[in-house]
Amino acid sequence: MRISRAPISVCVMLFLLSAVFPHHLSLGGDPINTCSGIVPTRHRSEMLSISDFGAVGDGRTSNTNAFNAAIDRIRTGNRSGGDGALLYVPRGVYLTESFNLTSHMTLYLADGAVIKAAQDTEKWPLIDPLPSYGRGRERPGRRYISFIHGDGLSDVVITGKNGTIDGAGEPWWNMWRHGTLKFTRPGLVEFKNSSNIVISHVVLQNSPFWTLHPVYCSGVVVHHVTILAPTDSPNTDGIDPDSSSNVCIEDSYISTGDDLVAVKSGWDEYGIAYNRPSRDITIRRITGSSPFAGIAIGSETSGGIQNVTVENITLYSSGIGIHIKTNIGRGGSVHGITISGVHMEKVRTGIKISGNTGDHPDDRFNTSALPIVSGITIKNVWGIKVERAGMVQGLKDSPFTNLCLSNVTLTGTKSSPIWKCSDVVGAAEKVTPTACPELASTTQQGG
Ligand SMILES: *[C@@H]1O[C@H](CO)[C@@H](O)[C@H](O)[C@H]1NC(C)=O
Ligand SMILES: *[C@@H]1O[C@H](CO)[C@@H](O)[C@H](O)[C@H]1NC(C)=O
Ligand SMILES: *[C@@H]1O[C@H](CO)[C@@H](O)[C@H](O)[C@H]1NC(C)=O
Ligand SMILES: *[C@@H]1O[C@H](CO)[C@@H](O)[C@H](O)[C@H]1NC(C)=O
Ligand SMILES: *[C@@H]1O[C@H](CO)[C@@H](O)[C@H](O)[C@H]1NC(C)=O
Ligand SMILES: *[C@@H]1O[C@H](CO)[C@@H](O)[C@H](O)[C@H]1NC(C)=O
Ligand SMILES: *[C@@H]1O[C@H](CO)[C@@H](O)[C@H](O)[C@H]1NC(C)=O
Ligand SMILES: *[C@@H]1O[C@H](CO)[C@@H](O)[C@H](O)[C@H]1NC(C)=O
Repeated sequence: MRISRAPISVCVMLFLLSAVFPHHLSLGGDPINTCSGIVPTRHRSEMLSISDFGAVGDGRTSNTNAFNAAIDRIRTGNRSGGDGALLYVPRGVYLTESFNLTSHMTLYLADGAVIKAAQDTEKWPLIDPLPSYGRGRERPGRRYISFIHGDGLSDVVITGKNGTIDGAGEPWWNMWRHGTLKFTRPGLVEFKNSSNIVISHVVLQNSPFWTLHPVYCSGVVVHHVTILAPTDSPNTDGIDPDSSSNVCIEDSYISTGDDLVAVKSGWDEYGIAYNRPSRDITIRRITGSSPFAGIAIGSETSGGIQNVTVENITLYSSGIGIHIKTNIGRGGSVHGITISGVHMEKVRTGIKISGNTGDHPDDRFNTSALPIVSGITIKNVWGIKVERAGMVQGLKDSPFTNLCLSNVTLTGTKSSPIWKCSDVVGAAEKVTPTACPELASTTQQGG
């Protein structure tokens, strides 16, 4: 059968290579990789301060007009040519309603600068749903615009000296808890259909919903950011690259109420029709804790997710270390995922790969549209105080193939944690505790 031949050759090759060139596949011998060079750096010829537009950082004054006026000025000013402008936000707490960015700008938050959401949830603007979702992610219909929004932009930088963008999410989390949300909650920062975006050296905190959401983007670099939200805040994912390519995320600390980084590509009939994958994504040197997953792929995978490299991740007190998740009706192909160098401490489940996760936009999803999950390599994983080592649940009519585990050591709190697998074909080498028979069956050839 086709599906059982492929995993042996790929996994054996991986294992042989690591035996012959032990450094070739390990992080240890390599120089430190960075995201630099992925997005061209621009020198801004003009600098504006938000104070010159009447902003007051006293934590009481509304600064919506100041932000809109400053960004309009950058938008129109750039028309006469030039390299765009830097908008400087000095120390202080600047309340504002949601606002849109423009191309060729740098939003620079000084040390101690806080841009804080101040908007009546009733008056928060609505925008159209994303075509790959067909509706808001959590409620049907339109969705609230993100606090800071960018649509159709290029060459935008958000940076500074560790200033803060604060979504003041509490009222939104309470609406979710009380079931009173009319539409899908706003994210903190969303870029849609944009390119050459850099976000670095900022703190993103208390997002009402997903924190940083690049969707239909290419060329996105995120580094040295701190993302914070309370453990019990609902759906406060850290970074969700969604139907986006050429994304590089590194050197960040993320501790939120949901997945720290989750790569997505739309869901069900809407995502299948829109057909835009997430691909060419690197995620490295992320530290943090999540009640759900540290690193997730999915559960929205309908446009496909390919060529994702994850390395050097440190997780503690989390629900799941690595979670690859999809569902019936999703369609899409998830392949070429390589995850290496993961250290975890105190997690419920080390590695979970599941074909039955997440809800559906509506009941019109195509039950024959099964996701294809293949070519997943997870290696050099070390975990302590792990309750359950791994759980792999493929789909009966679309078994997961080519799953390779290598050098994975997970030790339990009291007893040894165990693996549980179904509908999966693959290989395992140097896995402790011994991987499930579905994976272990091919090890004799490679090990
Ligand atoms: C704004 O400036 C950039 C950089 O010089 C330039 O590439 C772009 O074409 C300008 N945009 C407009 C609308 O003129
Ligand atoms: C911000 O952008 C959104 C979507 O691109 C648009 O609907 C909205 O009108 C813009 N808001 C302002 C204040 O310009
Ligand atoms: C994406 O943005 C570009 C401008 O950068 C615009 O020309 C294009 O129409 C946008 N596409 C969609 C689908 O909104
Ligand atoms: C940035 O601020 C966050 C939150 O206050 C803090 O935890 C982090 O250590 C700071 N990072 C740097 C590099 O100063
Ligand atoms: C995979 O993605 C990386 C960036 O993460 C890129 O450098 C590489 O060229 C991509 N590989 C393929 C085969 O597209
Ligand atoms: C992993 O990342 C940490 C910082 O997060 C760094 O100190 C360490 O050197 C990295 N390890 C490897 C093997 O790259
Ligand atoms: C449902 O999915 C199957 C498998 O991808 C496809 O062959 C079929 O055309 C789809 N049906 C509809 C109505 O889209
Ligand atoms: C096995 O994984 C651990 C944990 O990431 C790492 O420290 C070690 O170097 C790996 N061993 C090999 C042979 O790659």
